[in-house]
Amino acid sequence: IVQPSVFLKLQSGKLTGDQVLKSQKKLKDLEGVFQDEQIRAALPQESLIYEVQAFMPIAEGKSGGLFFGNSTIYPGKIGAEYHMTRGHFHSNLDTGEYYWGVKGEGILIMMDEDRNVWAEEMSEGSVHYIPGKVAHRVANVGEELLVFNACWPSDAGHDYATIAEKGFAARLVEVDGEPKLVDS
Ligand code: 6PG
Ligand code: NI
Repeated sequence: IVQPSVFLKLQSGKLTGDQVLKSQKKLKDLEGVFQDEQIRAALPQESLIYEVQAFMPIAEGKSGGLFFGNSTIYPGKIGAEYHMTRGHFHSNLDTGEYYWGVKGEGILIMMDEDRNVWAEEMSEGSVHYIPGKVAHRVANVGEELLVFNACWPSDAGHDYATIAEKGFAARLVEVDGEPKLVDS
């Protein structure tokens, strides 16, 4: 009987353990992601927008395994648009994913290959099934950290290029103090 090598802190959603990989996205890493590129470029470029942790017990790209992650998005807006992840399709297009909310207030934005966009509210305990062939991005619409966990197939991969080229067909902006999906 051995100790597990990774722990999930249930309160915070954070992972701990030597095998947990970490990455950060600062404003300087998010060129072209937000609608108002001028505002993004004028703000402090070292500002942390989101952090991702991943536990990948087998090589990325191998089939049959599952990866487990945590994402934390700092609150704020770029102009009227909420802080959000870049968003992606999976490179192995027909692979799904689970997201679940741990804390904060978020909105999961999804888009299919025909560019239909829809969204789900994320909050503590909310469970979100992202089907295959669906691009996904999360925005923090609250005033605190938005934290969620995720589980996805080890051969999913990330296709960021499609979103970099064409974006999502709708953006999540604040209108009269409320989040609203607006066609872009
Ligand atoms: C994945 C997950 C998730 C995602 C992060 C950051 O497929 O790995 O959807 O871990 O990568 O929430 O979002 P971006 O990858 O879009 O920057
Ligand atoms: Ni994904």
